[in-house]
Amino acid sequence: MNFFEVINKRRSYRGKYQAVKVPREDLKKIMEAGLAAPSGCNKQTTSLICVDAPEVLDKIHAVVTPPVAETAPAMICVLTQRIAAYRDKCFATQDYSAAIENMLLAITELGYHSCWIEGHITDDDRLGDKIAKLLNVPDDYELVCILPVGIAESEPAGPEKKSFEERAWFNTFRGAE
Ligand SMILES: Cc1cc2nc3c(=O)[nH]c(=O)nc-3n(C[C@H](O)[C@H](O)[C@H](O)COP(=O)(O)O)c2cc1C
Repeated sequence: MNFFEVINKRRSYRGKYQAVKVPREDLKKIMEAGLAAPSGCNKQTTSLICVDAPEVLDKIHAVVTPPVAETAPAMICVLTQRIAAYRDKCFATQDYSAAIENMLLAITELGYHSCWIEGHITDDDRLGDKIAKLLNVPDDYELVCILPVGIAESEPAGPEKKSFEERAWFNTFRGAE
């Protein structure tokens, strides 16, 4: 796949994964892609923990309700440090979002599937905090997203995107040119 094919092939996958382990070498490549992302004032506020030990995955699934990606053989947990980049400006959300998209694209390039699971674990029940506790994450880091990684059992059919013309223009807002 060329770069633009990878971008368009990436879709959120919420189905079952094949019972095939993801080699550490691939997981490391995916994490390295995440860490290569830009960050505000180069503060590099994003850190990652990849869980591929079945007993640790089981512990995570025990606290995530309703369950998600229970069959994924690996899960990358995204941590952030909400520190100021300059003055009172914190770019931690932008930093980890850039890292996540890089990882999703790397996952796609390597033939795996995933889904950006953030809403589910940062909602009022704060599942991310429970996962963080299991993984011994210190209090000054927040676990904001999990990315399952594995080989999909089926190809996802993503929701339709609005047309280019509805969302992007040249020169002026809704410019017709
Ligand atoms: C900030 C953010 C949070 C998300 N949280 C979740 C989530 O908790 N659970 C989930 O199934 N998908 C989640 N998604 C995935 C979106 O639902 C998905 O990207 C969107 O429906 C578009 O589909 P696509 O990824 O196939 O293009 C999240 C995406 C983003 C960017």
